[in-house]
Amino acid sequence: MSSTKRILLIIGGGIAAYKCLDLIRRLRERGHHVRVVMTKAAHQFVTTLSVAALTNERVFTDLFDLDDEREIGHIRLARDADLIIVAPATADLIARMAGGHADDLATAVLLATDKTVLVAPAMNPRMWVNPATRRNVVQLQLDGIRFIGPAHGEMAERGESGPGRLVEVPDLIAAIETAMAPLGAEQGPLAGRHVVITSGPTHEPIDPVRYLANRSSGKQGHELAVAAARLGARVTLVTGPVSLADPSSIGVRVVRVVTAAEMLEAVKAALPADIAIFAAAVADWRVTAPNASKIKKSSAGGPPALTLTENPDILKTIAQLTKNRPPIVIGFAAETQDVLAYAKKKLKSKGADWIVANDVSPASGVMGGDRNTVHVLTSGGVESWPEMSKTDVARKILERAAEQLIARRAAAE
Ligand code: C5P
Repeated sequence: MSSTKRILLIIGGGIAAYKCLDLIRRLRERGHHVRVVMTKAAHQFVTTLSVAALTNERVFTDLFDLDDEREIGHIRLARDADLIIVAPATADLIARMAGGHADDLATAVLLATDKTVLVAPAMNPRMWVNPATRRNVVQLQLDGIRFIGPAHGEMAERGESGPGRLVEVPDLIAAIETAMAPLGAEQGPLAGRHVVITSGPTHEPIDPVRYLANRSSGKQGHELAVAAARLGARVTLVTGPVSLADPSSIGVRVVRVVTAAEMLEAVKAALPADIAIFAAAVADWRVTAPNASKIKKSSAGGPPALTLTENPDILKTIAQLTKNRPPIVIGFAAETQDVLAYAKKKLKSKGADWIVANDVSPASGVMGGDRNTVHVLTSGGVESWPEMSKTDVARKILERAAEQLIARRAAAE
């Protein structure tokens, strides 16, 4: 990356803080300007002296340092940066961020900023999987905070292993530079291309207040939209009801729908497209005749009988279009068993170019989670990717699709 950026690194109090010294050195080698805020606990692991020597800047530690407030207060620290990275982010720091605390310089800066914030957690695996930490991470993601890691592996404590390691420095640098990459860059590999993506569940009304739905969070679909925009594409995201932040601020056109029928209409209206990715968990059935008013719980007649009608298969409809069929049509196959066997069948029956298959059994933690293990099926065979974040799955899928489009164009020339 050639352009110099201003990065504010917030070092939390964890054993992995030592990796930040290498991170600072490498970021500076890459031409970036690095300023550092250290939490009180961080001082137990690295010294301000070494950090100051590596950044060639004074290190900021205290919210109530009057000199700082006059010269460069927490508001300016927050605003002067192009990106803020929190590494290592401890469970406590994550909890205080999620709670909107501002009782030290690190949290005050984080509360005051309007810039991209990237959080690299590092903690004991049991702390990471604790429901309190899970809640805090989900809250921060809903607030638009980005996460990188933690990585899986051995912990500093003997005999402990699992998710909780700070990701390695090269991965931190990649995440930082990707987060700062110009969005919708004209020079991106998907520049001039249109990508249509479906995401989230659909809600099928039973009456004005009740509906049939599923547990899809929309995370993977929304990540696909962001990844496509980052690669320069014009993106239309057709989403069912989700509680995620809209990626419209990065130029994605978001079309909000409720039912499968609306989703199909919105996708058709968005065509033509170069790539269509169907990541939505569309309800298979809808109530044939939803009640116009709220169905009453009548004790005499017992529970109402719901008559269901099959919903249109959006992926299949688009994949089998004779006119306006996008050159690359990608479907997802979420299965709880025999993942590959079902996915292979789906590739044929739907007429898709690729099926991205994943295991969504409750034990996999994929539904609503941040990580995914996928198999990519094409007419050429199956490729199994290692477990990675949904962000990385999205980026890899879009990069691969871009390569395919470029290869086709080259073949046609
Ligand atoms: O048949 P199944 O629901 O397992 O297929 C999953 C794939 O088909 C996903 O890509 C999903 O978005 C798409 N699909 C669809 N419309 C439906 C059902 C599934 O687009 N009604």
